[in-house]
Amino acid sequence: MSVKQERRDFIGIAFGAVAAVGGAFSLVAMKKTWDPLPSVRAAGFTSVDLTPMKEGEIRQVEWRKKPIFIFKKEANAKPNEARDVVVGSDRYIVVIGLCTHLGCIPEWKSSKNAFVCACHGGEFNADGENIFGPPPRPLDIPPFKIEGTTLVLGETGPEYNKLVGKA
Ligand code: FES
Repeated sequence: MSVKQERRDFIGIAFGAVAAVGGAFSLVAMKKTWDPLPSVRAAGFTSVDLTPMKEGEIRQVEWRKKPIFIFKKEANAKPNEARDVVVGSDRYIVVIGLCTHLGCIPEWKSSKNAFVCACHGGEFNADGENIFGPPPRPLDIPPFKIEGTTLVLGETGPEYNKLVGKA
């Protein structure tokens, strides 16, 4: 092999190596662009510690820009196997706070013991079941899982799967 030939081979190998490394970097850069930012990934979940809640208390939190109502039932309240989220010996109702008629946000009225929708007068009981007016179905249950005494919205766990299809 001539010196010229060797030099040409060397240049060819060197060029190939540079191209391969460049290609690998490009792939990594492209993957970084496609992957959601860590903050976006975390934004899909909302964690709520249930321990400070008192019986009869209703809390509103936000999950993916939607209002979520969490209601801790009184110990002597009627169990609702299709809607209750059981955590230890406590029962909670967890629903998306958007009326199933046209999406207004119902408000809890203790005088009526119901969530009342101001838009067209729809009403839901404390379990989130439609009891009056145009709403065609109960308030929807968001995907959730239970981790100890923490409610994690945005991921389905066995407690959610148990309720799906029953409500
Ligand atoms: S949007 Fe609630 S009753 Fe119509």
